[in-house]
Amino acid sequence: MFYPDDLVEEVRARNDIVDVVGSYVKLQKKGSNYFGLCPFHNEKSPSFSVSRSKQMYYCFGCGKGGNVFTFIQEYENFTFPEALKQLADRVGVALPEQEQSAEERRQQDLRGQILELNRTAAKYFYYQLRRDSGAQAMKYLKERGLSDETIRSFGLGFSNKYSDDLYRYLKEQGVSDELLAQSGLMNVDEKRGMYDKFWNRVIFPIFDVNNRVIGFGGRVMGEGKPKYLNSPETRVFDKSRNLYGLNIARAARKKYILVCEGYMDVISMHQAGFHNAVASLGTALTSQHASLLKRYTDEVVLTYDSDEAGVRAALRAIPIMKAAGISAKVLSMLPYKDPDEFIKHLGAEEFQRRIDEAQNSFLFETDMLQRNYDMKDPEEKTAFYEEVAKKLMSFEQELERENYIEAVASRYGVGFENLRKMVNRMALKGAPAPRTQERMQQRRIAKEDGNAQSQKLMLTWLIEYPQLYQGVKAYLKSRDFSEGLHRTVAELLFAQYDAGERNPAKIINYFEDAQQQSEAAALFNTEAHLTSKAEIERAFKETLMRIVTHGIEERMAHLNPTDIAGLQQIIADKKRIPEIQRLHIDL
Ligand code: UTP
Ligand code: MN
Repeated sequence: MFYPDDLVEEVRARNDIVDVVGSYVKLQKKGSNYFGLCPFHNEKSPSFSVSRSKQMYYCFGCGKGGNVFTFIQEYENFTFPEALKQLADRVGVALPEQEQSAEERRQQDLRGQILELNRTAAKYFYYQLRRDSGAQAMKYLKERGLSDETIRSFGLGFSNKYSDDLYRYLKEQGVSDELLAQSGLMNVDEKRGMYDKFWNRVIFPIFDVNNRVIGFGGRVMGEGKPKYLNSPETRVFDKSRNLYGLNIARAARKKYILVCEGYMDVISMHQAGFHNAVASLGTALTSQHASLLKRYTDEVVLTYDSDEAGVRAALRAIPIMKAAGISAKVLSMLPYKDPDEFIKHLGAEEFQRRIDEAQNSFLFETDMLQRNYDMKDPEEKTAFYEEVAKKLMSFEQELERENYIEAVASRYGVGFENLRKMVNRMALKGAPAPRTQERMQQRRIAKEDGNAQSQKLMLTWLIEYPQLYQGVKAYLKSRDFSEGLHRTVAELLFAQYDAGERNPAKIINYFEDAQQQSEAAALFNTEAHLTSKAEIERAFKETLMRIVTHGIEERMAHLNPTDIAGLQQIIADKKRIPEIQRLHIDL
């Protein structure tokens, strides 16, 4: 879907960022900025800043930043069009309808209708649980140790023993069979027509991170198969992208998130005070789950069942977490089966102790690996060490690898040096980069980093002190910035300044990727911690010099040999570098 830039800009300009963010996050004015606790990571003291003059937010803790659209997208988990719609509605700007195709509109309406239907059904189940006919279900939940408060806060309900009463109820509300068929709430077969999917079960509504009901789980009371029945995937329910309990866990403000297998585990943990628990609900953990988690944490504790299936699930989840940049630990539930049982028997304090003692995921993996080898047999023992050595090679950082070699050596009673030799020998066989080449590579990276830093600093200064632009524009062009984010920002910013405008938040619109939006926002919100005027002046000139010199070197390196005019320009530019020293800087 495409909206004209002017319209996007109008919506942005009319939604003051302090007002919008302030409706989600408690903000306090400090100097010219507002500060609050960052909603995108867990923290105890506020490092999340919102600037009215720049119309941007930036978190000095986690580096997330952007304009008002970015905020709504990140916070509400919305796409750009969804965020635009919400903000347009907020200020009464009408978006052109024809921009949406008939099919797109139909699909969006369908999503909204299913969500509304789910909420109606959830309320219906909730009410059924509290009627006399729900007494048995209430008794079941109570016997499982759930408090009234817990039952209420998870919105638990009951589908009674009639297999058509929800159907009839929804029909009375005028819901069409067509919509019901797509809602996942009904079964359809030729003999019986349409009837309720859930009956005679306790009901667990499943919420997404925005507290919308996207599906249901229903448990038999007592024995019976299947134990849990779940909503099928619908237009609003994608099991591989949602985690049960995340709507609560995301606000728990804990450093880590507990990941378990089931509804009851999440609920028990919450009741015991662990509000940071989520479950992947019977499906194996996916990379989408992991990237969803990554929005809220860098660390998870896997609290899977202690049986074989749970161990397998943990072994599968570890590399998925790692790939998403999340470090995982594994909690041992033994001698109990799952968090629910554990807490019931040993209590919250002991559970907390197990969290504190949770095992490093690498050592968990090697422990599990060891079970496949007979350590009394020298040949098998060697094979085990070889497997472990192979795994150890995956640590690219030398220090980290050494630390793990040390941990493994002491854990499995093998000499540190022996194991290290084994790992190094293997690494050699695996054709590594020759050391000189490696070092050259490192030096190149360091130099690139230095240039990137200078460019970043320059952009930050130019944004903070627009008056500097007039003085430097004769020397500094956007082409002096490296391709990509820095050059794009420079182009947009310089164009704004040339037109007598200063609007950093508008520049953010230009980037589609959340990562890039954050990086751009970082440029607009960094403060160079320099104190004296002389110090700033010197640093500014040095930085300017470095960028211009580097820009010239780059142009020289990529110059077409037949481009005489280009060469002359480079020579002329080079001659002017000393002028930079004499430049008058006025902050
Ligand atoms: P478990 O069998 O471990 O159930 O399945 P549980 O959570 O301990 O349930 P209780 O304590 O007996 O009530 C773990 C999860 O797998 C899914 C559910 O999400 C469940 O919470 N599951 C299990 C199903 O979807 N269907 C089933 O038949 C069983
Ligand atoms: Mn259980």
